[in-house]
Formats: sequence, C-alpha cells, structure tokens
Amino acid sequence: MTLELTEAQTLTQRTARDYVARVIAPRAAELDRSGGFPIESLKGLAELGLLGVNVRAEYGGAEAGAVAYALAMMEVAGGCASTAVAMAVTNMVAEVIQAFGNEEQRQRHLPKLTSGEYVTGAFALSEPAVGSDPGALTTTARRQGAGWVLDGQKQWITNGAHAGVTVVWARTGGPGAKGISCFLVEAGTPGFSAGRAEDKMGLRGSNTVPLLLEGCTVPDGARLGEEGEGFKIAMMALDGGRIGIGSQATGIGLAAQHAAVGYAKERHAFGQPIAAHQAVQFMLANNAAELEAARLMCLRAAAKKQAGERFGVEAAQAKLLASETAVRVCNRAMQVLGGYGYIRDFPVERYLRDVRVTTIYEGTSEIQRLVIAREQLR
Ligand code: CAA
Repeated sequence: MTLELTEAQTLTQRTARDYVARVIAPRAAELDRSGGFPIESLKGLAELGLLGVNVRAEYGGAEAGAVAYALAMMEVAGGCASTAVAMAVTNMVAEVIQAFGNEEQRQRHLPKLTSGEYVTGAFALSEPAVGSDPGALTTTARRQGAGWVLDGQKQWITNGAHAGVTVVWARTGGPGAKGISCFLVEAGTPGFSAGRAEDKMGLRGSNTVPLLLEGCTVPDGARLGEEGEGFKIAMMALDGGRIGIGSQATGIGLAAQHAAVGYAKERHAFGQPIAAHQAVQFMLANNAAELEAARLMCLRAAAKKQAGERFGVEAAQAKLLASETAVRVCNRAMQVLGGYGYIRDFPVERYLRDVRVTTIYEGTSEIQRLVIAREQLR
C-alpha cells in the first residue's frame, strides 16, 4: 500500500493550488457578500482541465483520475467553497454522461462541459417533498410521439440557473425506484425554467434554485440510459459525488485550521502568544489529527473508484466523517479566533457558514449512516 501521490496527481494539486491562490481565494469574500456567480473563475478552472478532471481526453477532460479530482477539490474548496460546489456538480454531471451516455450524448455535451462553454452542469434529483428518498419522486415523463414530455418541480438544484445541461430524473413507469428514468435537458428548452435563487446561510456565491418543468418536451435521444434505469444511475453518480463533497468539506476545514494556526501565533494573551497555551494547542492538535483522517478517507475512496473497485460504502464513510469533522474544525477555529472569528474581517465565519451544508447535501449524514449500516448488517 502506498500513500504517495503520483507525479500527475501532484501536478493537478499544484495547478489547482496556484490558480486558487492567484484568482479564486482573492475573490471569495466579495463573492460571498455579493451573492453573484463565479462565471470567470469557472472558465479559468475549465481551461486548467478542472471541470472534467476524471473525463477522458477525447471529450476534453484532463483524464487525471478520481484521486487527482479529490485533491483539486480540496484546494478549490479551501479558497472558495461556493466555486468548489459549482465545480463538483459539473464534474459529477460530466462523469455521469461519460459513464451512462451513448456516443452521441457524450460528443454533444462533454466538450461543452469540460471547456466551460456550458459554464456548469446541474443534477436535478431532489424535489420540494423528496430529498432523502428519491425513489418517491413525482416529476413525470410521458412519451409523446418520438419524444418525452416532462412535468414537475425540482428543488435545491445547484448551478440550476447557469447550467448548459441538466440531468433530470422523472417517473416513466410505476411507483418506486424501478419507475424512474433520467433525461438530459438543455438550457433554453421550452417549458424548462429556473425559479428564484435561495437566500442561503452559506455558499452564497453558489446558485441554488428550484426548476420548473411544464410541458417540457425533449427528444428520445435525451434519455440517459435505459428506461427504468434512472434510480441506479443516480445512486452510482452520488457515490462519486460524495467523494467530491467529502473533499470539499476537508478543503474548507484545512483552510479554517490554517487561519487558526496563523492567528494563534500572532495573538498574545497573558504575556505570550495564545499558541503557547495548551488549551489552544489541544484545539489545533485535534483539528490536525481529525483533518488528516478525513483527507485520507476521501483519498482512499477515490483510489478505490479509480481502481474500478466498489467504493460506495467508502465514499459514504468519507463523506460522513469529513463533513462532520470539518464542521467541528471550523467551530474550533472560530473559538481560537474568539470575537475576530465571528466578524467578516476574517474568513472563519464564512468557512463555518459554508461548511455546514456538507452534512446535508449529496445525502445527509443520516443517509450516509444508513448506507454504511446496511453494508455492516448484510
Ligand atoms: N449503486 C448502484 N445501485 C444501487 C446503489 C448504488 N450505490 N444503491 C442502491 N442501488 C440499487 C439497489 O441495488 C436496488 O436495485 P435492485 O432493486 O435491482 O436490487 C435499487 O437501487 C434500489 O435500492 P434501495 O432499495 O437500496 O433504495 P432505497 O430507496 O432504500 O434508497 C438510499 C437507498 C441510499 C437511502 C438512497 O435513497 C439515497 O442515497 N438517498 C439520498 C439521496 C441523495 O443523496 N440526494 C442528494 C441530492 S443531490 C445533491 O445534493 C447535489 C448537490 O446539490 C451538491
């Protein structure tokens, strides 16, 4: 077993780190305040191959693998978690099209996703009353002539108003998981629109919208995978997506720890830097140890995925541990900074607001426990 990164993985990590330091991190506080969308940063990520890290070169991807993707995600999330989630969902959409699309669908969408022409992709599974239990979704797709007509509403859709292509799950058959199929809906399709962006606690530079499908007609060629195969496609995509969100959480946590260490060395209390006080050292030590565990778990799940092995349980474990660790780490970092952690002059309050959702989206912590427990009890 080797824990060393390959040259290519190190190169991807360094490329992301450099772009984050030059471009993404300096824009993060303003993006958080303005609630805009990081279109320019995403175009830059596309140019570096970071919108299709695990996509084959023939479709414009970097073909650098799942481990490189996890490393890049940690870097970008440390600079700006909002930009990171837009990148995460775009990579997930590109991978799902690569894995389940036919050649025509791959040729049509992947170069536009990886090059940034689409800006982003979106993943529309959840609905207003269906989040943890997507097998109960109610959006419908009925056959009409040579195509399909989609009706329903999607909720919490990351990138929804800025996506060139959205993967939409809809019911084509009876109840339950087996009645669900999956469609690629392009921006501008009549009957397909985005609602008002959510006013969120964190990730304020990411776009989260409801999507309306009202008599939205798509050709049969827009169906991704076989009829009734949609639920499995969603589950397999989410297995990979969970590595991305675990890595995002780890990246935010590492940035918070960096801020806490820097502050602890500068700030004096009782005649010495607060870093000399054991109470502060213990918080920094716990952060360091827990973050290293989170980092390794994300990389291990990614390595299994890259090796073509089953990795769903490892991804759930990594996402559970990394997201809950990162929330704790950001909380401790705020404690180290005291009052300065609570104001916007320092980035720690943003890290804490941004990291909180990582225990909720891409499957809540409770859903990850369910996936892990099922495997234990099998
Ligand atoms: N890979 C492949 N197939 C899978 C699978 C996986 N990981 N998980 C389940 N399946 C298959 C099963 O084998 C089963 O197939 P068969 O009937 O042929 O045996 C079928 O799917 C149904 O499986 P279950 O009975 O296990 O399904 P379930 O209804 O009990 O659900 C669940 C399982 C894990 C709880 C699932 O519903 C789940 O993951 N829920 C959470 C959803 C989620 O993560 N949503 C996030 C939204 S996206 C998002 O947040 C993006 C963002 O903005 C960042």
